[in-house]
Amino acid sequence: MVEKKDRSQKGFTLWFTGLPCSGKSAVADKVAEILRGKGMRVERLDGDIVRQDLTRDLGFSREDRNENIRRVTFVAKLLTRNGVAVLTSFISPYREVRARSRQEIGDFIEVYAKCSLEECMRRDVKGMYKKAMKGEIKEFTGVSDPYEEPENPEILLQTDKDTLEESVGTVLRRLEELGYLKSHLKAGRS
Ligand code: ADX
Repeated sequence: MVEKKDRSQKGFTLWFTGLPCSGKSAVADKVAEILRGKGMRVERLDGDIVRQDLTRDLGFSREDRNENIRRVTFVAKLLTRNGVAVLTSFISPYREVRARSRQEIGDFIEVYAKCSLEECMRRDVKGMYKKAMKGEIKEFTGVSDPYEEPENPEILLQTDKDTLEESVGTVLRRLEELGYLKSHLKAGRS
């Protein structure tokens, strides 16, 4: 049987930004899973994975981070214009570069995973903050490298206060409000 394709899906990029261990990937993974469950075409672009491949030649200087984001933006743009729901999770610490990504991609929804530095350090999933504090990792975001907070993100998550489920719900509600989920939510409810 030939499966009927949904050709009405409008592409968009959910651009998650925030400090290391702020929960960007966790929320993006869960939202991606839910969107897939609605029959949408979904792609995830995650810093830790992309940096093992497409941008494996890059480090963490301002220049390299910006090059990382430039390449990812290129991929996200192609996917978005082909009707894919793209979820990126990169620290993407520089405002100016995020603004360029927004301009390039068009259907761009900035999601700020806001989490206090104290809480990120407490989580320290990979033990990197500890190493950065000892000076064993240089240019570490939040410790020895800057993070420029979004001034006007479409979606603001308080990942140090809300549960994962609450944050996921916030993203989905906003997507619906912005008109990216309409037909799918209806299909899901029927
Ligand atoms: S970005 O700044 O260029 O957007 P990206 O999100 O791709 O960063 O990569 C961040 C990941 O790289 C972190 O989750 C962490 O595991 C790892 N990492 C290694 N060194 C650093 C560093 N100096 N600063 C931040 N993250 C680092």
